[in-house]
Amino acid sequence: MTQLTKTIILAGVYCFLSLNQVFSQLTTIPIETQHHALVLQVAENQDLNIIYFGKKLSRAEEYGQVPGVYRQSEDYTQMLNAAYTASGSRNLLEPAISVTHADGNKSLDLKYVNHQQERIDENVSQLSVVLKDPAYDFEVTLYYKTYQQHDVVEQWSVIRHGEEANVTLHKFASANLYLKADSYWLRQYHGDWAQEMQPEETRLTHGIKTLDTKLGTRANLFQPSVFMVSLDKIATEDEGQVLYGALEWSGNFRIDLELDPLDNLRIMAGMNNYASDYSLPSGEAFQTPAFLYTFSNQGKGLASRNLHNWAREYKILNGEGNRLTLLNNWEATYFDFNEQILKGLLSDTKQLGVDLFLLDDGWFANKYPRNGDTAGLGDWEPNREKLPNGISVLVEEAEAHNVKFGIWIEPEMVNPKSELYENHPDWVIKQPEREEYYFRNQLVLDLTNPEVQDFVFGIVDDLLTENPELAYIKWDCNAVIYNAYSAHLDQQSHLYIDYVRGLYGVLERIRQKYPEVPMMLCSGGGGRVDYAALQYFTEFWPSDNTDPLERIYMQWEYSYFYPAITSANHVTDWGKQPIKFRTDVAMMGKMGFDIVVDELAPNDLKFCQQAIDHYDTVKDIIWHGDQFRLSNPTESNVASVMYVDEAKSSGVIFNYLVNNRYRVGSHSPIRLKGLDADKQYRVREINLYPGTPSTLDPEKIYSGDFLMNIGFNPDVRVGRNSVVLQLNEVQ
Ligand code: GLA
Repeated sequence: MTQLTKTIILAGVYCFLSLNQVFSQLTTIPIETQHHALVLQVAENQDLNIIYFGKKLSRAEEYGQVPGVYRQSEDYTQMLNAAYTASGSRNLLEPAISVTHADGNKSLDLKYVNHQQERIDENVSQLSVVLKDPAYDFEVTLYYKTYQQHDVVEQWSVIRHGEEANVTLHKFASANLYLKADSYWLRQYHGDWAQEMQPEETRLTHGIKTLDTKLGTRANLFQPSVFMVSLDKIATEDEGQVLYGALEWSGNFRIDLELDPLDNLRIMAGMNNYASDYSLPSGEAFQTPAFLYTFSNQGKGLASRNLHNWAREYKILNGEGNRLTLLNNWEATYFDFNEQILKGLLSDTKQLGVDLFLLDDGWFANKYPRNGDTAGLGDWEPNREKLPNGISVLVEEAEAHNVKFGIWIEPEMVNPKSELYENHPDWVIKQPEREEYYFRNQLVLDLTNPEVQDFVFGIVDDLLTENPELAYIKWDCNAVIYNAYSAHLDQQSHLYIDYVRGLYGVLERIRQKYPEVPMMLCSGGGGRVDYAALQYFTEFWPSDNTDPLERIYMQWEYSYFYPAITSANHVTDWGKQPIKFRTDVAMMGKMGFDIVVDELAPNDLKFCQQAIDHYDTVKDIIWHGDQFRLSNPTESNVASVMYVDEAKSSGVIFNYLVNNRYRVGSHSPIRLKGLDADKQYRVREINLYPGTPSTLDPEKIYSGDFLMNIGFNPDVRVGRNSVVLQLNEVQ
């Protein structure tokens, strides 16, 4: 029995007082942001525990008193609240880390050694805490990087040892959290191709709920790592305590949410350890990716806005910059095009009025031409039949039309029917003794192999060297990893982790040489969307499903975690809605088109051209402003989303009818948010279809107070199922 336990038991009826006295003498390490605190404490036995997670207290010295006011049942192990739960000693629940030492022993105990707080700038600080095993030369340093204003924390760990031989890491979480509440409500996501970001919100019960993926690449196809946990009750947009979490990792992840015997919630998040025992040599550092979280005690809306601001400022490539509107040819031509057709599309790009033409799949491969998705992937020379003069002539033609040119690649993957596969069968991930199994007729290249890394880097480098004017890249990733085996690796269990590290190495090289070129993170839709990848990409492709009705829901869910500037939304022929509805939905992010422009009815074309002009007047607010989700399509017949600029002087509000039943519509006004109560505003309808008058009076002026308390009625109904409003301050 430890001295601390004895003290507690002996204290008897005076337990409350004694506990407070005991705890207050212990080293307490508050990790605070503007409104949030995670508080660590070093126990008498040098264990590092979490004693508080939640709203920041005004007196930091009172954190030490928190454990004393709980009367939960006994923690036999004294480590349910460990800041990083080791396994093989006293632990009885899910560990954050488990290892086999060089001598074969499987036990680990981690004791506090020291901590260091570093202030990076006004907003950012970093705490590191060193933990060591008293019995083995093995240590873990926990890192907590805090972003004060944004209430965001990034947490990761670095594992090292000085043992005689390699240590095997069986589990290696990035973060371990401990939350106390009366109940915990998890919002998680699942999906499949064209059905990404389907939410489920349920109460967590005792035991473990694991969110994970084992797909290797296109890792989010069935489940992304983003989630939220509301405390006590489901947080609304403006009320309630909620934690948003995500792993900054583009491969297999695993997030365990364990409701423990004391009714507290343990969260362990990191790379998935599935089939991934990692053999760590002495003296080498094993760094986990960052687990990212933000905590709000004012509901989901604030959590999103904090995360959006943080992401634009610190993570997303050129997050605070501009984006290019575009015309893509994927759905207009699929694989069926040639130079002549593309030249026509370049002139359509100009006519439409967007910034760039994006040439999609099908432009490459000769021995096995890429005329469908069954051949040619991997052979990145322009197809001579379709493009006898290569890409450069198209880039020049684009210049002549005063538009930019972008191109699609899928550099990590290969069709078996390709020269690349014939020449380098050992570059492909596949089991040597088993039949090949394909995802979209293709296999994944082995990015653990430096030669493959050079090849993948070379695809981008060659394109940009040969065509310095190339202005945009769509980087696709359509296959998952089947038959995980690398001809390059000695340790097969390193494959999933080293693949992602190899990918980041390539992206790092690309960004060193080409820091600015915008790149879309596409993965057969939203198969790869995360904040590690977004450091190298300017935007992501949420889904191949561009049916605008579906997109209202999907973009809504993505918007909890990702700012609108990252969401590439294209107007296509999916869905039954008119062009206006489709365009309005695409405007709620980074707008593009993927339609046959020269088949548009004259008024449809005119509408699109005018919409691009309108978009130019509001895109800055959508990309860089604050987003407010006003009316939830899962709870109402009307979806409404608003963006407001920093000065609270202009905004744009998108409203849609999401149900077709008799007399449905915006019967009541929709309360606006984020305005200045004392300012006066004019609300005008924009993006009207040619010849359609608005039913709203453009001259009426309302105070911010009125708009936020009473609201505004966009008059959404059948016949007006998509209404865009622009709001401007009247001086
Ligand atoms: C994936 C992408 C699409 C398109 C095709 C091309 O499905 O998500 O946008 O680029 O590949 O094959």
